[in-house]
Amino acid sequence: MSNLMSNYSPLEVTFVKGEGCWLTDTKGDQYLDALSGIGVVNLGHCHPVITKNLIDQSQQLLHTSNVYRIGNQEKLAKELCTLAKMDKVFFSNSGAEANEAAIKIVRLFARSKDIEKPVILTANQGFHGRTMATLSATGQSKVQAGFAPLMSEFIHVNYDDIEAISDYQSNANVVAVMVEPIQGEAGIIIPKNDYLNKVQELCNKNGWLLILDGVQSCMGRTGKLFAHEHNQITPDILCLAKGLGNGVPIGACLAKGVASKMLTPGTHGSTFGGNPLVTSAALGVLDVFQNTNVLENVNKMSEYFRSEFDNKIKNNIAVKELRIKGLMIGIGLDSNIIDCSQLVKKALKDNLLINVTGTTIRMLPPLIITKEEIDILISKLIKLIST
Ligand SMILES: Cc1ncc(COP(=O)(O)O)c(C=O)c1O
Repeated sequence: MSNLMSNYSPLEVTFVKGEGCWLTDTKGDQYLDALSGIGVVNLGHCHPVITKNLIDQSQQLLHTSNVYRIGNQEKLAKELCTLAKMDKVFFSNSGAEANEAAIKIVRLFARSKDIEKPVILTANQGFHGRTMATLSATGQSKVQAGFAPLMSEFIHVNYDDIEAISDYQSNANVVAVMVEPIQGEAGIIIPKNDYLNKVQELCNKNGWLLILDGVQSCMGRTGKLFAHEHNQITPDILCLAKGLGNGVPIGACLAKGVASKMLTPGTHGSTFGGNPLVTSAALGVLDVFQNTNVLENVNKMSEYFRSEFDNKIKNNIAVKELRIKGLMIGIGLDSNIIDCSQLVKKALKDNLLINVTGTTIRMLPPLIITKEEIDILISKLIKLIST
């Protein structure tokens, strides 16, 4: 019996080593990791640049405090702001905390406009985290069940439905819209190409802040460093985590313009946020994105996956559709034909790591995946859905 609380129900496997797209368990068996620790280890397990940064930094200094200046943190903030066209960054330890910072910024923004009861529009099926504020923002009742009273400022509207947002233009309490560029936890829901542009237009027109939760869809996952670059827009607030540290816990809330001026001394903080160790890893991540062809690989492998899928999987009667952007991959299945609840375990038996969300096989493989590894993935998927 484990002494761990029962909020997780882990599969019966323990990994002891990782390299690239592969994990090794305690018995020495190897597994193809098509999930990257849920979109975290985007550059592959134990990437040498990040490992080196962590070793070097751990021999110098792990932690001081945000009471003092932190060189790595300032450097990382500068690089992130340049890349994302933003002005300022707050560093957290997770995606939920990056979103918490965003929500606090919106509260202060509302105060500055004398709005007592601010409203943030968020999306049905969206996922923003497990803290009280972020689970209130989350549009999934299974995440919220049992935790009422929730924060009341979130109004959930249908995702990829611009009219649903537009309908709130006459509500003077609305101060912000918070959405994922692509919904991840919902099962890879890709909105229409111009959805984010239209959301931004509405935000501009009404003086609302646009918060993009890029925790899962940014850091190269869709073939651009930031998912909204496909739309050539810049939000007011951008939240990052997961792939930012490639396995070390770091999140970031980036803001521009008026949103970047809301936090003043004493209004927010985190003991560990942006410490010398985690920021050394994130600097390594940016280094790899800027100095290797990883983004090109995402686009090539995405195309390759799609063509192999079309040739070998699409016609299976259990398959309804493929939803893919870069290496954010969802395969929608017909639950009348296949029992989706057994697929994760069945894949594990075949040494493949995937996630299943409802009736969707969700995959977020490392962005460095090769053609040969996609071939292995496709053959394992064919086996998996053969009924
Ligand atoms: C879009 C999005 N936002 C926020 C979170 C929460 O991040 P964390 O688990 O690091 O708190 C997640 C996690 O899956 C996510 O996918």
